[in-house]
Amino acid sequence: MAFVNKLAIIAGGLALLYAPFEASRVSSVIKQTYTDFDNDDDSIKTYACDITQPESVKEAFGKIGEDRVAVPNMLINSAGYVNLMPMSTLTPEDSLLHYQINVHGPLLCAQAFHALYLEHRTLMQSAISSGQLPSSTKISGARIVNIASQAGHVALKDHGAYCASKAALLALTRQMASEWGAEGVVANSVSPGPVWTELGKKAWADAKAREEYQAAVPTGNFAEPEEVAEIVAFLCKESSKNINGADVRLDGGYTVR
Ligand SMILES: NC(=O)c1ccc[n+]([C@@H]2O[C@H](COP(=O)([O-])OP(=O)(O)OC[C@H]3O[C@@H](n4cnc5c(N)ncnc54)[C@H](OP(=O)(O)O)[C@@H]3O)[C@@H](O)[C@H]2O)c1
Repeated sequence: MAFVNKLAIIAGGLALLYAPFEASRVSSVIKQTYTDFDNDDDSIKTYACDITQPESVKEAFGKIGEDRVAVPNMLINSAGYVNLMPMSTLTPEDSLLHYQINVHGPLLCAQAFHALYLEHRTLMQSAISSGQLPSSTKISGARIVNIASQAGHVALKDHGAYCASKAALLALTRQMASEWGAEGVVANSVSPGPVWTELGKKAWADAKAREEYQAAVPTGNFAEPEEVAEIVAFLCKESSKNINGADVRLDGGYTVR
């Protein structure tokens, strides 16, 4: 479970979505990940959510809306799925699963987040107009960061369905940026090369493939999860508000060769 990245930030708090069947591991993973987290601390809230199911997404974001103390303004779509196989043996079910988790899920979450953001921005604007909030109150714009992949840019051995789904996520990010930018919601993506997480270990389990890849990438490295997090944090800064529809490649230069 790597749900550290799957977050929506609510007014300085963190809403983490986890796949429902992982419920029993949530508390231990949070303690392990956020070492200074105290159970009485209300700043991290968790929500069961199967991102491929519209009802589950609706329920989770409904609860996030109820728990919120101010405008929710950042969504990081990080859930992902990969299963390697040659295109000739890819099953229809597995092909669809890549699409459901890597494209449809981020779309459902982004729609729910966008609606929630607009709803609460309107409430704040009314409160400012009616004098309930000072006229100097500043309403922050919203950020969506989708975790795509270098696989969205180039073909990779046995990554057919994954490559196609990540390319679709890049297209979806551009569309979000184009449609929602004027409403104060900017959208960008990060395209990492291999990162040594559970998913990375699955995709690069074959030592020979790993060595060949590392010999081919200009920097010769896999990235650390923290490097992805730093880019996400940068894209979420107030000073990044005019970066919209961009994709940041963290691939050691692999895709520019
Ligand atoms: N690691 C890499 O080399 C690499 C490279 C490029 C891009 N990426 C992308 O980076 C993102 C994060 O991946 P990671 O490496 O941190 O992988 P990870 O450790 O496997 O995390 C992916 C997470 O997605 C969750 N997930 C899968 N299906 C879900 C669903 N239907 N509903 C809710 N959650 C679901 C998984 O939950 P469970 O644990 O419960 O299954 C898992 O926690 C992914 O989008 C991945 O494609 C990774």
